[in-house]
Amino acid sequence: MELPKVGVPRAALLDEMKTRKQQDADWHGARTFSLVYPANDEVDALLADANNLYLYENALNPLRFPSLRQMELDVVDMTAGLLHAPTGYGGCMTSGGTESIIMAVLAARERARAERGVEQPTLVAPYSAHPAFAKAAKYGGLELVQVPLDDHHRADLAAAERLIDERTALVVGSAPNYPFGTVDPIPQLAGLAAARGISFHTDSCLGGFLFPFWEKLGEPVPPFDFRVEGVTTMSADVHKYGYTTKGASVVLHRDEEHLKKYQRFLYTGWPGGLYLSFAMAGARPAAPIAAAWAILRHLGEEGYVKLAGEIRDAVRGFQAGIRAIPGMRIIGEPEMSVFSFTSDAADPLAIGDKMDERGWCLDRQNDPDALHMMVSPKHLTVVDAFLADLRWAAETAGTASDRSARYS
Ligand SMILES: Cc1ncc(COP(=O)(O)O)c(C=O)c1O
Repeated sequence: MELPKVGVPRAALLDEMKTRKQQDADWHGARTFSLVYPANDEVDALLADANNLYLYENALNPLRFPSLRQMELDVVDMTAGLLHAPTGYGGCMTSGGTESIIMAVLAARERARAERGVEQPTLVAPYSAHPAFAKAAKYGGLELVQVPLDDHHRADLAAAERLIDERTALVVGSAPNYPFGTVDPIPQLAGLAAARGISFHTDSCLGGFLFPFWEKLGEPVPPFDFRVEGVTTMSADVHKYGYTTKGASVVLHRDEEHLKKYQRFLYTGWPGGLYLSFAMAGARPAAPIAAAWAILRHLGEEGYVKLAGEIRDAVRGFQAGIRAIPGMRIIGEPEMSVFSFTSDAADPLAIGDKMDERGWCLDRQNDPDALHMMVSPKHLTVVDAFLADLRWAAETAGTASDRSARYS
């Protein structure tokens, strides 16, 4: 597309955008199971207003927009409270889980170099850890060392112990991981790291804003947060189960000194004045900070617990229905609202295609072939419709050998 010589009128332009949008996945109707975390219309309306109030400001310079700076500090504080960070913690907001993870990895690399003289650092992360860790390792010049999974789809402890060595800058565990929704043995992994003076990161991008309320519902939650000694950093995404619009995550350090020494970027070596920044971005959109602040304050603990209850009921409904379909099973023992399922009777990927035909968007997985679900509050309204279509899909999909025959 070329820039038009003469601008397109507003009405025509908006019409065109609405038409284009019709191709997109129907997350409003709760037919997607990743990427968007639909809560309800009231949440959406508040988010729209909060975003609108801060569309143009820039969070790069806190002196110009002190209201934004305070909102960022408030969001970090509220998150730290949920994750039981001890007094003396530090943190900042970033654009998302990936940026939070990149900052934690880079800070750990700097710490390992400063405190232990590590020059060729490794990053020890479970096979199921999010690709953000591989990305961070690539950008930051660390070697990624993958810990295989045990029979429960959690990091294999014995293997982790073998793979952690004097070059290790960071050990990682997920709470929960994306592919299976299982939680790695955080206390044991963090213990292995701490015993050697190595940083440990809990990736609770998914769990950070749901597990605390899951716990309040009386559901079992494995230890994952700063109550576990040895956890030095954590990531938690407000734009996942905090329900805010995209662009909002928090990275926390147990020790604020580590944030200042190993993550903060302070620069004076140019004529443009003092430059201070805590994460990758320079200019930073203000709206994600404002929306995250607004939704946390608006829902409060009571609102989040209520939404967590809706998620739990939906998860129970989905999982019971899936298990009742002949040959279908949930993989591992997912701890929260994220899980994958497969079928020993029919081709799971073909089931996914059939579900596409009925407008459901299920992400595909491999090792093993499976379909992935991330359940949000709004899904409680579609459990029966989804299961009816899934039963139909399982009956009509055919088997994996039918697929091989199709492609051979
Ligand atoms: C466990 C986990 N960690 C990190 C991320 C990365 O988050 P983002 O996509 O916001 O960068 C995700 C995304 O789904 C995730 O599930």
